[in-house]
Amino acid sequence: MAPAPPEEAPEELLRADRLPFERRYSWSGRFARLRQEARSDLEGFWGGIARRELRWERPFDRVLGGTPPEYRWFEGGELNAAVNCLERHHSTATAHRVAYYWEGEDGSRRTVSYADLYERVRRLASALAERGFGRSDRAAIYLPMVPELPVAMLALAYLGIPFTVVFSGFSAEALAHRMNDLDARLLLTAEVGFRRGKEVPLLATARAAAAQCEHLEQVIVLRRTANPPALQERELDWGELLAHRSPPVEPVPLPSAHPLFLLYSSGTTGTPKGIVHGTAGYLTHLAATMRWVFDPGPVDVLWCAADVGWVTGHSYIVFGPLLCGATSVLYEGALDYPGPARVYEILERYRVSELYTSPTALRSLRRQGDELAGSHDLGALRLLGSVGEPINPSVWEWYFRVIGAGRCPIVDTWWQTETGGIMVSPVPALDSRPLKPGSATLAIPGVDVAVLRDNGTECPAGERGLAVIRQPWPGMLLGLWNDPERYRSTYWSRFPGVYYTGDYAVRDADGYLWFLGRADEVLKVAGHRIGTAEVEGALLQHPAVAEAAVCAVPDDLKGEVPVAVVVLRSGALASPTLAEELAEMVGGRIGKFARPHRVLFVGRLPRTRSGKIMRRVVRGVIVHGKELGDLSTLEEEASVEEVRAAADSLAGDLAPSRATR
Ligand code: PRX
Repeated sequence: MAPAPPEEAPEELLRADRLPFERRYSWSGRFARLRQEARSDLEGFWGGIARRELRWERPFDRVLGGTPPEYRWFEGGELNAAVNCLERHHSTATAHRVAYYWEGEDGSRRTVSYADLYERVRRLASALAERGFGRSDRAAIYLPMVPELPVAMLALAYLGIPFTVVFSGFSAEALAHRMNDLDARLLLTAEVGFRRGKEVPLLATARAAAAQCEHLEQVIVLRRTANPPALQERELDWGELLAHRSPPVEPVPLPSAHPLFLLYSSGTTGTPKGIVHGTAGYLTHLAATMRWVFDPGPVDVLWCAADVGWVTGHSYIVFGPLLCGATSVLYEGALDYPGPARVYEILERYRVSELYTSPTALRSLRRQGDELAGSHDLGALRLLGSVGEPINPSVWEWYFRVIGAGRCPIVDTWWQTETGGIMVSPVPALDSRPLKPGSATLAIPGVDVAVLRDNGTECPAGERGLAVIRQPWPGMLLGLWNDPERYRSTYWSRFPGVYYTGDYAVRDADGYLWFLGRADEVLKVAGHRIGTAEVEGALLQHPAVAEAAVCAVPDDLKGEVPVAVVVLRSGALASPTLAEELAEMVGGRIGKFARPHRVLFVGRLPRTRSGKIMRRVVRGVIVHGKELGDLSTLEEEASVEEVRAAADSLAGDLAPSRATR
């Protein structure tokens, strides 16, 4: 049984200096020193970490090079990510540690040690090398949450093949777009995934995507059922590939800035952009944040309950934990399947000591009540983490009191696909400053976050502004794939010389940062990042649609959901069936998670006199029931009334959840 929550008043309870977090005292004072070191010598600070934490095949000549904003960390150095995550543990006791406790939704289990993982990685890398794949190629991975997913990532890293992992919820079109953008020659996929008791037909989707990709030469298929389909041309069976023992190859030493992976992420405009991460800077950032934020020791078990298809999984299921020789849980399936006890059973079964999940998952657990936490032994938990969207203070307190039984500090970690690793977070192992529910607290050492007004001056305490990062950090993206111009204009032009995050934030009187959501046309639906332009683009492909505006509407469970406001072509008739068809279509073209929650029909959209759709006005009317801000450029006032009438038809369905924020 988990201990009953203590009786103290919440304010008292939430003070980190009252938390029995044993290691804090031995580190006392060290953290202030770290910040000071980073402030006085940024390059010396990160250079020291890179030297201590990574194995280098060739030492770097310079800590920070490149031409801003194309910064290049650890120039002149050479290393390999798979060597750092696996090979260097091989001659140590870590080889016998568990790397992953894997659990499938149907209850199947596998335990993979560091030695096993390394063996599988070497065999896959050797087989790929024998087939002629090497560092001048690119690969895509479309796999469910199985141990073969980290194996694939590390085998590609071993050979220096940059890869993109495509979340298994993405459609054929999204997969094809990514493979074509990269000219991928290789795809690693599986016959099916399993979710909510059903088979997800990954191979069928992969085939539909492959048919659109002329560069693709080889598809490696992991079979998972008793009666797998026959393989087609270009396809190879994963098991057979490994059964044929290829001559072993050595890991390839790679320059520090060699692209390790790309992740496609939604931005303000156009199609998703390929965010490129390098090798040395990214790994250095992860090594540091793993130690500061999670600090895994020999008995710890981490469960980062994200999907490896997103950056959180790359950094804190795969590369970060493996760098530190830590043990993780890898779970394939829905967190509430077959019932709401699933999360608690996993926490209990593997004696998870560090849980890292999203506010959406926590809101859903809270909805299921407190009893399940009390009826499972969660006594191994010592640290709780949150990521991906703002966490409501009430959810934070529930997490602290019910899941953590009042014993475990919460690390609310703010970062982005672009930042590679955690940027702002409490560091309870090193810093005894009190936590505040809803605040990610302070930037980690070596990271300088500021909150600016539109005119570039710094906001005083308490004033909302735009979050920026004022100096380079090692985990930063190298750029956008094949698009240096877009890299500059997206991140470095809003305020010249500083990195623009796209987030609203406020700093309070104690200097703590509170991230308040996106300031641009990006939605966070259940923590997933979706661009309004992407959803609008999918809607516009329907023959009945003339125009579309998509906006984020608060949702009690998912944080935000997309609502689409659509103008039909003349002759097309608005109907609930068409609304459903349009929502389905977005699900099919992007992925189910991007499906509009509602589709509203109007005769015209609010526009500026120069013809731009005023999404701010659409959102204001839908969410707040009124237009917000300056309307002087609005062309036709009647268009606002149309949106209002359409939104009213939803009645209580879109209950704004501002009160819980
Ligand atoms: O708006 C911020 C939000 O997630 C965005 C980044 O999304 P993505 O690239 O998908 O990466 C998510 C996982 C790192 C940010 O611009 N966000 C992330 N963490 C937090 C957050 N908002 C508030 N609090 C957080 N802890």
